[in-house]
Amino acid sequence: METKIVQRGKRWVLPLLASLLLSCLLITVSLLFSSSPLRHTLVFLSFSQISSSAADSDDSPLFVESKLQLPPLPPANNVPRLAYLISGSTGDGRSIKRTLQALYHPGNRYVLHLDLESPPAERLELAADIRGDPVYQRYKNVWVITRANLVTYRGPTMVANTLHAAAILLKEGGDWDWFINLSASDYPLVTQDDLLYTLSTIPRQWNFIEHTSDIGWKEYQRAKPVIIDPGLYSLHKSDVFWATEKRSVPTAFKLFTGSAWMMLTHQFIEFCLWGWDNLPRTVLMYYANFLSSPEGYFHTVICNADEFRNTTVNHDLHFISWDNPPKQHPHFLTVNDFQRMVDSNAPFARKFGRDDPVLDRIDEEILGRDHSGFVPGGWYDALKKNTSDVNYTVRSISDLRPGAGTKRIEKLILGLLNQDDFDKKHCI
Ligand SMILES: *[C@@H]1O[C@H](CO)[C@@H](O)[C@H](O)[C@H]1NC(C)=O
Ligand SMILES: *[C@@H]1O[C@H](CO)[C@@H](O)[C@H](O)[C@H]1NC(C)=O
Ligand SMILES: *[C@@H]1O[C@H](CO)[C@@H](O)[C@H](O)[C@H]1NC(C)=O
Ligand SMILES: *[C@@H]1O[C@H](CO)[C@@H](O)[C@H](O)[C@H]1NC(C)=O
Repeated sequence: METKIVQRGKRWVLPLLASLLLSCLLITVSLLFSSSPLRHTLVFLSFSQISSSAADSDDSPLFVESKLQLPPLPPANNVPRLAYLISGSTGDGRSIKRTLQALYHPGNRYVLHLDLESPPAERLELAADIRGDPVYQRYKNVWVITRANLVTYRGPTMVANTLHAAAILLKEGGDWDWFINLSASDYPLVTQDDLLYTLSTIPRQWNFIEHTSDIGWKEYQRAKPVIIDPGLYSLHKSDVFWATEKRSVPTAFKLFTGSAWMMLTHQFIEFCLWGWDNLPRTVLMYYANFLSSPEGYFHTVICNADEFRNTTVNHDLHFISWDNPPKQHPHFLTVNDFQRMVDSNAPFARKFGRDDPVLDRIDEEILGRDHSGFVPGGWYDALKKNTSDVNYTVRSISDLRPGAGTKRIEKLILGLLNQDDFDKKHCI
């Protein structure tokens, strides 16, 4: 077998060297004399070389992308794992810790990011607290980004930060099913046991991403202006600035827009990060000069990729209360919004003020967080029973303790998947 390959290699080398030499000679000659007939000969010669060697090697693939296939979907019906990014800025350390506790489950993975604007002392304190916590230490599934990124709100550095966290999650604890991007001012409205229980019943291919191709006013205010994000090259935070030139709407791909909150599959995150198809990279570079890129990058990639267009579910799994007409920021949720939040059936809500009383009400009435700060569930019972078992894994659905929240998410998710014409409503 090996000798065969070597022989074939040798057969390749000679014509290749010969054609290289010939090409060099011809290029020199054509540069010297710069006469058009010679150039034609050059083109003709090198072309015939390529085609004859391609004919020699019978099974060389013409298109490399077709050989690069998507990773297989994980088997359904076991308990899925979620990978969370929770990020914040100056002063968000405590909220991040609270959100993490409310979201914690040993089967999941968590990356915490306090951006470069926050004082180093705050980032170190967060890292020390995670390291010092016996529960996080035991399951080793929480990572704190210590080499923090400068993140400009509305700028492409926000998308870069999200991709950075997703890359860490792929590298450190790659066996998860969905990636969820949250901030310190987000909070769950269901327990992780509820969420995992519901998600274990649905196929792992669905990407929950709110999107539309109807970009409306955003064509003039977002797609045409060209912005620069100083966060890409500066040590200090400042807002994005505008170039005087405008650009036209892309024709190489179609723009989509939607919510900056999403739950994306492992498959799609690999597609975006590995970049064997150039689309995610091209679109990323395009969005480097786009205002509010987090509201468009993943939407545009997923809807322009044939492999993924039909995996979209048009919802961001969040309860967000916008003013009417919408302003730049949603309004802060308070106790007055409690019932509407619960009735939305969404697993997450935003945006909450730090330690707002409504969070205590959610803890008390929905999550049942106890004095330890964790949300009771199957894993927590096991932890209390056996302190020597460091390798807790969720083996089956019976390890979960689903509660009232299960019905709410089920209603939302099954409602979305069973909509009329669900198959025909992707990326429109
Ligand atoms: C990810 O999370 C942050 C919150 O820190 C948010 O502002 C951002 O827009 C989110 N989305 C994306 C696509 O990065
Ligand atoms: C996606 O769904 C549409 C409508 O059902 C169908 O025509 C199309 O072939 C599907 N695309 C892929 C790649 O499966
Ligand atoms: C606790 O976990 C250890 C290690 O997995 C196991 O050997 C032991 O039987 C467990 N004890 C109980 C009471 O379940
Ligand atoms: C836990 O898992 C680690 C790594 O897989 C292994 O080295 C260790 O022996 C396991 N411990 C127990 C008690 O099963």
